[in-house]
Amino acid sequence: MAVATAAAILAALGGVLWLAARRFMGSNVQRLHQGWDSGLMRGKTVLITGANSGLGRATAAELLRLGARVIMGCRDRERAEEAAGQLRREVCPAGGPDSGPNSGGAGELVVKELDLASLSSVRSFCQEMLQEEPRLDVLINNAGVFQCPYMKTEDGFEMQFGVNHLGHFLLTNLLLGLLKSSAPSRIVVVSSKLYKYGDINFEDLNSEQSYNKSFCYSRSKLANILFTRELARRLEGTNVTVNVLHPGIVRTNLGRHVHIPLLVRPLFNLVSWAFFKTPEEGAQTSIYLASSPEVEGVSGRYFGDCKEEELLPKAMDESVARKLWDISEVMVGILK
Ligand SMILES: NC(=O)c1ccc[n+]([C@@H]2O[C@H](COP(=O)([O-])OP(=O)(O)OC[C@H]3O[C@@H](n4cnc5c(N)ncnc54)[C@H](OP(=O)(O)O)[C@@H]3O)[C@@H](O)[C@H]2O)c1
Repeated sequence: MAVATAAAILAALGGVLWLAARRFMGSNVQRLHQGWDSGLMRGKTVLITGANSGLGRATAAELLRLGARVIMGCRDRERAEEAAGQLRREVCPAGGPDSGPNSGGAGELVVKELDLASLSSVRSFCQEMLQEEPRLDVLINNAGVFQCPYMKTEDGFEMQFGVNHLGHFLLTNLLLGLLKSSAPSRIVVVSSKLYKYGDINFEDLNSEQSYNKSFCYSRSKLANILFTRELARRLEGTNVTVNVLHPGIVRTNLGRHVHIPLLVRPLFNLVSWAFFKTPEEGAQTSIYLASSPEVEGVSGRYFGDCKEEELLPKAMDESVARKLWDISEVMVGILK
């Protein structure tokens, strides 16, 4: 009995040590910007949606470090100001952004309210942007909702399609003029590998006939890719590029709607700690596409771990991409 207990304890300890070794030594994701010119993004303005949490927050931190003026487009001002305060302390501990020599060359953080589940919020946000910002060098469509129960946006769209695709569709279209006048400029779209399990079912885009939360997330992420490819086609010759990425599986707040039974939670936390990317690791492809000279002029491509990857044929279907674009224009009221 004592031998069996000792063996079980040893096995458990071995398992924990193995997971810890994987966590600390196994990550193949480098922090890209190390060795880059720390002022690479100085003079550039970057807008990141959902920048108060997870990947958006980590992307904001890195671009701030590289000298950018980072605008955090967030739906909750309190959460966003709290995140901005933490970021300022992390990135520029000696002073504040733009606070002279002590800031270490870091950029500036600005919080603006943006609820992608409300077309009127997107419109007023863009109006404010156009009035206050003379330029926009990078737009990062990052915010997202994952597998929520059936909910509708203020305008009656299914929540995941409404926020992940339609809100960003309107935002991008309303900011295109500013991006063009700031060219060369970039748009970065955060999608997911789960796009593979989605389809654009034009007959029920609001999921009123049936709702499957996993399918709807995948559909919204497929829409992100089709949108990117169609936009890249429309932007040819403008010096505005648009690329899309999947970040991998990252430990963030994205799973807030996923119920994990209480008893399974410690195991889930251990496995996610060991195997999932940290937000800093997951954000590397967004940072790369937003700032690396290597992707200057590259447009309409799909990336993972900072490398171009192939797409399934359904994500490259030009007729579906055009139809989705046309329908989205009507849904958000750009075309009546
Ligand atoms: N984590 C992963 O494993 C993973 C994998 C593949 C793709 N992604 C994609 O990565 C992106 C970032 O997600 P994350 O993992 O960093 O999750 P996260 O920590 O939950 O961050 C999501 C952000 O989106 C914001 N957001 C949600 N609804 C919004 C709305 N209506 N208007 C404005 N902002 C809204 C959230 O704001 P609040 O904090 O106010 O809720 C939050 O700032 C998403 O597009 C997601 O689909 C993530």
